[in-house]
Amino acid sequence: MENELKQKIVKEYSRRISGKSGCCDSGITSSESPIFTASCCSGDDSCCSGSLDYGIEGLGEESGKQSFGCGNPVGLSSIVSGDIVVDLGSGAGLDSLMAANSAGESGKVVGIDLSDEMISKARENAEKLQLGNRVMFLKGDIENIPLEDNFATLVISNCVLALSPNKQKVFDEVYRILKPGGRFVISDIMSEQNIPKELVENTDLYVSCVTGAAQVDQYYSMIRKSGFSRVEEVERREYGTLSHSQEKIRMFSITVRGYK
Ligand SMILES: C[S@@+](CC[C@H](N)C(=O)[O-])C[C@H]1O[C@@H](n2cnc3c(N)ncnc32)[C@H](O)[C@@H]1O
Repeated sequence: MENELKQKIVKEYSRRISGKSGCCDSGITSSESPIFTASCCSGDDSCCSGSLDYGIEGLGEESGKQSFGCGNPVGLSSIVSGDIVVDLGSGAGLDSLMAANSAGESGKVVGIDLSDEMISKARENAEKLQLGNRVMFLKGDIENIPLEDNFATLVISNCVLALSPNKQKVFDEVYRILKPGGRFVISDIMSEQNIPKELVENTDLYVSCVTGAAQVDQYYSMIRKSGFSRVEEVERREYGTLSHSQEKIRMFSITVRGYK
């Protein structure tokens, strides 16, 4: 079941990056959807957090449309020259490329994604910016990161963990690959309350980062269980409303920072 879900996720994000659609084109955010109404996606191009933050000079105006994020982890990471950064679920690579600029010649960025199409778009973008070996993109599962222990000084991720059926494993991996004293800055979708089982089983909603969302207290428990002690929320944004029977469930994104 988990494998089927991951295959569906990969297929969907490969489709989204291969087409001309931006992050609003999830198929579930349109006004036709009786279940989920996105507070950010009203048909206006500036609606998505990604579009607001992610036009990258050198990639053209359209690059903002390659962003599928829900926060701005790079902007909140205080990246310094020499940082070794890992971007989990790097997509078209926009966060990785911005991180590479800040980490400078002595730094390094590794983006990890399960979708071949996302990896090749990210490599194409890196080539346009002539970043050489300061940035690389690897195919891999964030639940089993293909990097050695104590590799990174910073782990970032933008709207990806909500897609993982095993978030505890992801946080365990983040802890494993961070050097002592290293930090993570992760943006992710949260649900204000428990999402009913029948909605979680709706894979279209799951794939669009909606019904795989955790609740904030569960999220913090998983982070602490992995070994992180200092953890803080640094930003919160509205994401949308999930309707079920008479119930309305508020969805929002948070950016969380933690230290190993
Ligand atoms: C919502 S998009 C976000 C992409 C990027 N972080 C951004 O801000 O544009 C989610 C990305 O995570 C990738 N992904 C989903 N599950 C994954 C997993 N288990 N391991 C690696 N990548 C995964 C998808 O292929 C997709 O590129």
